[in-house]
Amino acid sequence: QLMCLDQTVFTGKRVLITAGPTREKIDPVRYLSNYSSGKTGYALATEARNRGAHVTLVSGPTGLKPPSGVEVVSIQSAEDLYEEVTKRFNDVDIVVKSAAVADYAPEIVENQKRKKQTNQWSLPLKKTRDTLKRLGELKQSQVLVGFAAESQDVEFYAKDKLERKNLDLIVANNITTEGAGFDHDTNIVTVYAKDHYEKRYPLASKKDVALHIFDEIEAYMKRSGA
Ligand code: CTP
Ligand code: CA
Repeated sequence: QLMCLDQTVFTGKRVLITAGPTREKIDPVRYLSNYSSGKTGYALATEARNRGAHVTLVSGPTGLKPPSGVEVVSIQSAEDLYEEVTKRFNDVDIVVKSAAVADYAPEIVENQKRKKQTNQWSLPLKKTRDTLKRLGELKQSQVLVGFAAESQDVEFYAKDKLERKNLDLIVANNITTEGAGFDHDTNIVTVYAKDHYEKRYPLASKKDVALHIFDEIEAYMKRSGA
């Protein structure tokens, strides 16, 4: 459905959104992944488009139908995500990194399917590259929005990531709270800004969470004169 909206701060802005899980290959039939549904990222892409932005959605495998009018870049692994996002960073104004990126990937990808020959199997993993942290290092005038999925000390860890990754805003949620986080239709988020502004939102649909996040991005851009 086409929306007719007035000028917004997002009109003509280039917005890059990452969504969904990553898959880290083990062998031809197996991978490591997580429970991310991609719903928040797809809702963010829809919301940014509705506000007049040019939207690129870099998405892991979700099975969701991408919103119309949005450029979709499909990725599998954390490494794919790193490549696709860093090469576009110079040409965008706003990045919202809602993807649930694997922190570790198998050290070696086997070309043949592993046979069940042993009673135990230890799989050596290596840390993946942190795309968001890299964007924080490369940042010029872009507005950089990260996510923090935590199961404890949410405020502490979220503020730590905001600072360490040189972000403008971070969207924090406690994944252990009922109705929040991965693989749900709802979430409870708190947004922390670089300028120490913070706002806690009550339980909301992921569609409304996306709306709240863009309201916070807009308010931040107005405060900082971006
Ligand atoms: N992120 C990323 N690349 C990675 C890992 C995470 O870009 N390899 C991004 C996520 O997209 C998210 C933010 O970093 O926007 C925070 O992710 P999170 O998992 O909460 O934090 P980590 O820095 O990975 O730390 P930890 O998992 O130990 O809490
Ligand atoms: Ca992580």
